Amino acid sequence: MTRQITIPRIGAAGAWRDAARDLLGAGVPPSQVTWGDSETPRGLFDTDAPIPQARALTVPRSFIPLADSVVWHADPERFARLYGFLWRLREAPHLMGDRGDADLARLRRMEKNVHRCQHKMKAFVRFREIGARDATRRSFAAWFEPTHHTVEPTAQFFRRRFADMDWRIVTPDISAIFENGELRFVEDQPNPDLPEDASEALWVTYFRNIFNPARLKVQAMQSEMPKKYWKNMPEAAAIPELIAEAPARARAMAASAPTLPPARVGRVQAQLQDLASAWDGPSEALPAAIHDCTRCPLHRSATQAVPGEGPRDAELMIVGEQPGDQEDLQGRPFVGPAGQLFDRVAKEAGLDRARAFVTNAVKHFKFVPRGKRRLHQRPNRSEITHCRWWLDAELRQVAPRLVVGMGATAAEALTGSGADILKRRGRIETRADGVKVLLTAHPSYLLRIPEPQTRLREEAAFRADLARAVAWLSAEQTGLSPPGV
Ligand code: URA
Repeated sequence: MTRQITIPRIGAAGAWRDAARDLLGAGVPPSQVTWGDSETPRGLFDTDAPIPQARALTVPRSFIPLADSVVWHADPERFARLYGFLWRLREAPHLMGDRGDADLARLRRMEKNVHRCQHKMKAFVRFREIGARDATRRSFAAWFEPTHHTVEPTAQFFRRRFADMDWRIVTPDISAIFENGELRFVEDQPNPDLPEDASEALWVTYFRNIFNPARLKVQAMQSEMPKKYWKNMPEAAAIPELIAEAPARARAMAASAPTLPPARVGRVQAQLQDLASAWDGPSEALPAAIHDCTRCPLHRSATQAVPGEGPRDAELMIVGEQPGDQEDLQGRPFVGPAGQLFDRVAKEAGLDRARAFVTNAVKHFKFVPRGKRRLHQRPNRSEITHCRWWLDAELRQVAPRLVVGMGATAAEALTGSGADILKRRGRIETRADGVKVLLTAHPSYLLRIPEPQTRLREEAAFRADLARAVAWLSAEQTGLSPPGV
């Protein structure tokens, strides 16, 4: 006998979560559950008897936002897919971090589709005024046809933005109605057949003005603003005509423009010249020069630049990716969680951090704000290239006998390629200028591994790489043949 779980169209996220929690707690496997909405026909052997409660279970925290998005997807199997994956998570919570898992990959794609649909809704809903203009609260309505069931999760955005007016977004699915500060959802509203209003002409004029015929890329435009939304957007009426006129308008613009050297050539030439040059200040001025760096945009949001630290004649140089949140605040490399892990494993490998010069490929912290947190972002190729100026200056100054590069960004900055780190690790590569480099994993990578066994294994490999660096340095010093060259 299977259990029939009916998820209402309104409040689906909470209803699915409650049902999934009860089923999981009672140990009901996915094969014994059929999920549906109020219109799903019942099977012959379905029951909706109460679910006996057994035990409370915890789920990985990152599953919650995933489920909260996927429940709004149009796929009729969405509830079952989520529960199937949740069931697997009971025994294997690390699956949330397994990028190779096909079920998770599908759920992530569904999550992305829902987010994209929410984004389209925020951008393409067009309200028309339906109430009297002199009413205490003005009143608007919009008809919208979302691909997924995104009215409910997106309504809070409109509530915040249009808190001082009444509005309704009517869709073929459910509709959001905001009246006198109260938001509610209703099912099956008819298309309100909205009258045109004064804002139509404004939208068309605005769109005509921002349209640049020389930049027209029809495919890109249609993927950003798919045709299915056009019929409810006043400005879309102008699109066919603007596309048809675009080539002639672009030719006319080109013909009337003065002949100038291509606009970016000067800037590109200056950049190339800059990259070919080298910092040639006195060595004691290097940290201060790094502090003043404005070579790429990262300096604008970071608290400060973090130069390398350690003895100027160190035999070993350690290169990480970029300062993290703690390093950015304290102005010192590797003092946060990744630094603590590095310090511990280095000690176990016989590597004395105090005798090494520790630095990063990129000297400013790159992040995106998320509430009160700052989430690390990987530096891009241009940022790595610009910052190599400083890394090269540190390399010339310290002239280490061996450099340990941790992670793909350090590998790219040191060797020109960040590829295949895990295949290249532990070997000593010799650069064209003779600098010896040993690549290994980045300690933050170890911190992100959720599964304890895998983490221990990776930590052991990291420790072995650091021990190899220490062994290589001492073998070279004693005249024994250094391993791995
Ligand atoms: N990660 C890095 O790559 N460098 C630091 O300094 C800290 C974290």
